Amino acid sequence: MFFLPSAIRRPPSAVRHLPSDTVPTVYIETYGCQMNVSDSELMLGKLTAEGYESVDGPEGADVILVNTCAIRENAEQRVIGRLGELRRFMKKDTILGVTGCMAQRLGPKLLESNSRVSLVVGPDAYRALPHLIDGARRGERFTATDFDLEEHYEDFQARRFEGVKAWIPVQRGCDYRCTYCIVPYTRGPERSRQLADVVRETQEVVAQGLTEVVLLGQTVNSYTDGTHDFADLLRAVGAVPGIRRVRYTSPHPNDFSDRVIAAMAETETVCEHVHLPMQSGSSRTLKRMLRRYTREEYFACAARLRAAIPGLGLTTDIIVGFPGETDEEFDETITAAQEIGFDDAYMFKFSMRDGTPATRFPAELLVPDDVIDARFERLKATVRGIARERNMKRLGERREVLIEKEARKGGDLLQARSRDFKTVIVPGDPSMIGTYCTVELTGTTGSTFMGTPVQERAPLPMAAGG
Ligand code: SAH
Ligand code: SF4
Ligand code: F3S
Repeated sequence: MFFLPSAIRRPPSAVRHLPSDTVPTVYIETYGCQMNVSDSELMLGKLTAEGYESVDGPEGADVILVNTCAIRENAEQRVIGRLGELRRFMKKDTILGVTGCMAQRLGPKLLESNSRVSLVVGPDAYRALPHLIDGARRGERFTATDFDLEEHYEDFQARRFEGVKAWIPVQRGCDYRCTYCIVPYTRGPERSRQLADVVRETQEVVAQGLTEVVLLGQTVNSYTDGTHDFADLLRAVGAVPGIRRVRYTSPHPNDFSDRVIAAMAETETVCEHVHLPMQSGSSRTLKRMLRRYTREEYFACAARLRAAIPGLGLTTDIIVGFPGETDEEFDETITAAQEIGFDDAYMFKFSMRDGTPATRFPAELLVPDDVIDARFERLKATVRGIARERNMKRLGERREVLIEKEARKGGDLLQARSRDFKTVIVPGDPSMIGTYCTVELTGTTGSTFMGTPVQERAPLPMAAGG
């Protein structure tokens, strides 16, 4: 005699509505950059295709994956804390896995330090996930952290978290070696997808009803598939019928060829925004960072972009307190921010990462924490002041915005984005999410705008004989 699994013994009508305890559930929590968000979407796509049901919280999930970031010490501390916290939500047989950059960096050490973690899987090993989870169910523990230079997960169907815009990875890894940065060691060497694959994914995204794509890569404008460069990619993706907005992040200042700038300027769907990480305004600091450009070259790159693309929104990343940064060097970052006039900047306090070249600098070059804190506050005030001034001048202007989600404040307010990457709060109801409208910028907090929808005036009919 043998027993059929209980689900099959149920009457046929019940088979179609399996109770949730017969379908394994998976919860993925994501930290870090958009590349990690995109990887989580790929992992979730793979696991749901294998029969897992995706759930929105960790409570009682059969599998919990924490997709981690290693960029700064505090990013890792948060994850360590969270792994402890998650125990509370876990059943006896819940499988806990750590994926992403911290998994790659720490490997088996994560298994040693946390007895409840049974999987440690790096960014190039997600294909093995279903198999590894099965093994973990049998009580085994795994580390999978080999790089795979062919891996782009082409056959995975991303299960997208956002309903309005799609993250599309076009390049994995990084071949730069900025001395502070862990990414080359957690993501491996740079490699690009084939242009045709990126175009196909863009077409699929449009078929799903999305109109905005964001092309992702660590130095995305160095994209090359052997035949096509980033200029070709922008033109090809921008020409996919149904796409209204193309963005990309993050470009490297050294990889902005004239071809790429021309493609950006000439492709109508490519938005007028560039996130151009500067890191420092001092050529001496930039040299120690091995950024491979000087202050003047960065200025020139920003100027070329602005000249080619009227109304360009320009945002950046800046690191404060890099080893050896003197008061004078930091002042150069302040004056660079003032002279360039960024629309916004993400600012970070330097964090020393094990295994990066910066660990080999003499200890006396380290900038004391209190100095870093004071510089950080000064830079923040400078950047915010400049952004406020620039934004005040824009009041009264009009922008086409894409409504992305309900505003955090709620109360019939929606959060929208202009092509030049301004956040605009507009009145309306959630049914408008995913639609475009034209707004007049009526107020600003200094960073965010308030907008009032306006009726676009129809073009005047041509007067006879005129
Ligand atoms: N590939 C992107 C950057 C990815 S990391 C680029 O080259 O621009 C995102 C940002 O984190 C970086 O731009 C940098 O400003 C910051 N960052 C990276 N490593 C850091 C570290 N060790 N300490 C502080 N900030 C860091
Ligand atoms: Fe890190 Fe530099 Fe590569 Fe960006 S370009 S990911 S900062 S090494
Ligand atoms: Fe973090 Fe890895 Fe992205 S270190 S910033 S998740 S590439």
